[in-house]
Amino acid sequence: NAGSKGGRGALIVLEGLDRSGKSSQCARLLSFLEGKGCATEGWRFPDRETSVGKMISAYLANESQLDDRTIHLLFSANRWEKRSLMESKLLGGTTLVVDRYSYSGVAFSAAKGLDIEWCKAPEVGLLAPDLVIYLDVQPEKAAERGGYGGERYERVEFQKRVAEYYHSLRDSTWKVVDGSVPMETVEEQVRELAMNCISECKEKQLTNLSW
Ligand code: TMP
Ligand code: MG
Repeated sequence: NAGSKGGRGALIVLEGLDRSGKSSQCARLLSFLEGKGCATEGWRFPDRETSVGKMISAYLANESQLDDRTIHLLFSANRWEKRSLMESKLLGGTTLVVDRYSYSGVAFSAAKGLDIEWCKAPEVGLLAPDLVIYLDVQPEKAAERGGYGGERYERVEFQKRVAEYYHSLRDSTWKVVDGSVPMETVEEQVRELAMNCISECKEKQLTNLSW
């Protein structure tokens, strides 16, 4: 029972390499949807506010060291701890615009050399996105953008491997948007994809992620 007459909200995920423009596009999409009167919230993973999120944040800042599998499971746990809230928001009619999700979880850990199937396993049963917008930017281009290099994974050679794993994860919910063109052009495409998704998913059941 989708608590609101308008049907459920959409789970829209933005993915991409570090400095691909996801956070800016999430913010722009959010204010666009709010302007349309659409019930929307902006979420992000890792959610650094929770206690698990604080451990992740310290790891990314190189303030702590963790075994590769341990940090992988913490990233996943950080999504699991939000699953029920996510579900109730969506069923209540709120669209969620989410900056990174399970695809980041798998692509970044697999790029470190962990077995990809092992990486996928803990994500099974989280909510499946209705739409994944991948902002496609060359790793070299992303590295030229401001603020790059501050956190653990922000190295060009590593990000190239991440991009390959992202590529292998593409499925029918993915739309690839060229993230190297002007921000306004990207924004326009993101809006259109999101609006279509929101109207199409109203009647669709929420499903669980499986690979
Ligand atoms: P952020 O810059 O979007 O806050 O993400 C921080 C870093 O964490 C980024 O390099 C991607 C990485 N990451 C993972 O390795 N696994 C995950 O599950 C998520 C959500 C992010
Ligand atoms: Mg980052």
